[in-house]
Amino acid sequence: MESEQPLTQLSSQQEKVLVLDFGAQYVQLIVRHIREQRVYAEMVPHDTPLERILAARPAAVVLSGGPSSVYEEGAPTVDPRLFDAGVPVLGICYGHQLMAQVLGGEVEPGQQREFGRTDLNIDDPGQLFTGVADKTTCWMSHGDKVVEVPQGFRSLAHTPHTPVAAMGDERRRLYGVQFHPEVQHTPDGPQILHNFLYDVAGCKGTWRPSSFIEQTVAELRERIGDKRVLCTLSGGVDSSVVAMLVDRAVGNQLTCMFVDHGLLRKDEAEQVIETFAPRLGDRFVCVDASEEFLSKLRGVENPEQKRSVIGEAFIRTFEREAAKLGEFHFIAHGTLYPDVIESGGDGTATIKTHHNVGGLPADMKYENLEPLRMLFKDEARQVGRELGLPEEIVRRQPFPGPGLAVRIIGEVTPERLETVREADAILREELEASGVEGLAQWFAVLATMRSVGVKGDFRTYEHPIILRVVQTDDFMTADWADLNHELLATISNRIVNEVPGVNRVLYDITSKPPGTIEWE
Ligand code: XMP
Repeated sequence: MESEQPLTQLSSQQEKVLVLDFGAQYVQLIVRHIREQRVYAEMVPHDTPLERILAARPAAVVLSGGPSSVYEEGAPTVDPRLFDAGVPVLGICYGHQLMAQVLGGEVEPGQQREFGRTDLNIDDPGQLFTGVADKTTCWMSHGDKVVEVPQGFRSLAHTPHTPVAAMGDERRRLYGVQFHPEVQHTPDGPQILHNFLYDVAGCKGTWRPSSFIEQTVAELRERIGDKRVLCTLSGGVDSSVVAMLVDRAVGNQLTCMFVDHGLLRKDEAEQVIETFAPRLGDRFVCVDASEEFLSKLRGVENPEQKRSVIGEAFIRTFEREAAKLGEFHFIAHGTLYPDVIESGGDGTATIKTHHNVGGLPADMKYENLEPLRMLFKDEARQVGRELGLPEEIVRRQPFPGPGLAVRIIGEVTPERLETVREADAILREELEASGVEGLAQWFAVLATMRSVGVKGDFRTYEHPIILRVVQTDDFMTADWADLNHELLATISNRIVNEVPGVNRVLYDITSKPPGTIEWE
């Protein structure tokens, strides 16, 4: 029975905010920004019955944006009793319009969309805009607008095209903002969220990695009992954090298997072995399957086919090797919150089949353990740090499951792997030494076309390396990083001089969309 499942991961005594999801693309950014204020937040479907919402005892409720218009037939709505339940509510964009409409204000259908950075004039700071200048900027993306506030509300701010850009009923602790405080283009967004959480909703800010660890370890211990757990280490931060947590919870009952598919970056396999072999002793099993993977990839050029060959090879290796280790009841995965949200089946088009090495057959007899399923990547990193994982692993960038195979455009061969690995290591070394901050992902791609060049007195006919460096918060959209030219020159010089078989270095200046972050 669905109602027996708890609505949130936290108990009713623990401080939390529930974000009702009305379908905006960036709902998870709202959740993330609230957690950055040290308040735990979780997304729940907009049609969650009010009784369940109230039973979870949220410190506040946020109504997200969404693509609908309150005028559409069947537009998602909210139980009006929510606004009388004594819970502080913040409506954002569609949530703001919905709050106005449900409470008797007036929403006008949009003749004209207001989109992008917009001047915001604060007319009445109240609690929500304390500490925000009278004139600031915000990010707008809407058609409909609130033109009259409901009874008990005051209009707090306007923009050139939106008379009620924010409204509030201080007594009932109900607020609405037409703009998006959760995106970077609203510079005062964090302050506004902070004001809502702490001043309006009276949050204490109890969300910390250490409290997550304590609670998760206790839960794992209880759920696992005396059974055995298998954890597949991929070389990335997520599975490493899972292994550390389960190890802390049940020690000897955990066995970790690291399948080295030979497609990792330079030194990565070694770092995993150095970290886990001493800690786990013979409960750490390293399977060197690189030859098997490479031979299966021979002659494969199509990106989707590469992914499926690798996924399949992983499953075969896993089944064969796990059988040698005896019986396990649980298998532990490094699933994160964005994966949970994305696999929610919202019908978006498949751009690439994202394959996580560690993605196992659906008919497996194991029970799944996913202790990180409510965390974002940066939170998983903080937890890893607190659990004593080395920085090289904690700071590891996201890396596709199929590894370097999707960073070689064309067939994967041992020589090409060596080339892209060395070029990638130089890029990483130089970026780290430069101290540039705020980058999300950076790597080298090898194109298998060749071009003419000259080295010394000799003509060369070799491959180009493409550098891909991006900034992004959510990996759904990304900007190419405008790196300093001197730094690019250093990287380029080193790669053409130090990596055999490469005579050109290109810098990818394509955003996502229309590009994707990876090349395949
Ligand atoms: P794209 O290329 O789709 O990448 O813009 C977005 C993010 O996802 C990572 N990525 C993958 N991760 N398995 C993964 O686990 C995959 O098959 C895969 N393909 C892309 C990519 O590195 C970026 O962080």
